[in-house]
Amino acid sequence: MNHPKEWTVPDHVPPELVADFDYRNPPGAQDDVHLAWKMLHAGPDIVWSPYYGGHWIATRGEDIETMQKDSVRFSHRSVNIPPLSEMQVVSLELDPPEHTSYRNLITPAFLPQAIASLENDVRSLAVERLEKLASRGECEFVSEFAKILPIVIFLRLADLPLSDREQLLEWAEWAVRGNVDERNESQHRLIGYISTWVEKRKAEAGGDLVSLIANAQIEGKPISPERMFGMFIVVLFGGLDTVASMMGFIARFLAENPAHRRQLIDKPELMVSCVDVADTALWRGQYGAAHHPGHGIQGRSVQEGRADPAAELAVRPGRSQV
Ligand code: HEM
Repeated sequence: MNHPKEWTVPDHVPPELVADFDYRNPPGAQDDVHLAWKMLHAGPDIVWSPYYGGHWIATRGEDIETMQKDSVRFSHRSVNIPPLSEMQVVSLELDPPEHTSYRNLITPAFLPQAIASLENDVRSLAVERLEKLASRGECEFVSEFAKILPIVIFLRLADLPLSDREQLLEWAEWAVRGNVDERNESQHRLIGYISTWVEKRKAEAGGDLVSLIANAQIEGKPISPERMFGMFIVVLFGGLDTVASMMGFIARFLAENPAHRRQLIDKPELMVSCVDVADTALWRGQYGAAHHPGHGIQGRSVQEGRADPAAELAVRPGRSQV
């Protein structure tokens, strides 16, 4: 479909920077998504992919860090490639100073103390699931464990019915791996679903995440419905696939590396640092967000005149595939 002959490479893109790289399905991803992405390290520090209307991909950690932190030169205003047409994902798609105000609204729900209070609940849920699976001696780890844990925890955090689990998981799947229509549709459905709960929690607020967002105010004024729904999108869809992917990557690594598995069984005290390392190496080392060059761009490659200020810039995009 996307054959070099069909590409229209803009004049400002040097031919040596064009990469046949579909970030939603990089070559080799079915075998190992991290190795598929790693292939880009063998090339230049920035490449231009013709997929999804054309976009740049930064391939070096230091450049990516610069883009993440410098919201003046690299705006977060639309993190999807291609951009979704409708709902703005809040606070992810806001730049400072607005970002700070919206981010502060949900911060209390994610402070260490709030998370620590969930620990016993998470632990007993994990043990309960594992006991059910252990007697079989095998399982399909992602669908039977990794996807279940985060949705159940989210539903408890938000005080929503456990019976809505399957439906929300389906929409989350569309939101992350769907095409543009499916991704927009998933947002519509989530908004329809959450609206009823917003009204209920406005009438009678509790200590849950839905009440927190539904009754949020900035400078004494309620936030707009669009911004409110944008926040629900990020806390729900942002927290499901990420966690399931992370656990899937760790389980796969341990399944393929028995010596490491043995080490953790023999020394369970290594578990916490092992999870930290895996999180950094397997997920944060490869996450995606689109950035839009703002004014006065002086990033390394961009400064050298290799990037088009009008084009989208992708920071190694591609939410991980499990
Ligand atoms: C292993 C699990 C997770 C990983 C690897 C992960 C990764 C990330 C990354 C890389 C970003 C920054 C994106 C950017 O700046 O462009 C982000 C933002 C965010 N994540 Fe997660 N995430 C995880 C779990 C969660 C969970 C469980 C929740 C909530 C239930 C969550 C909520 C958010 C929110 C609200 C933001 C936006 C923060 C902001 O705008 O400043 N994440 N996450």
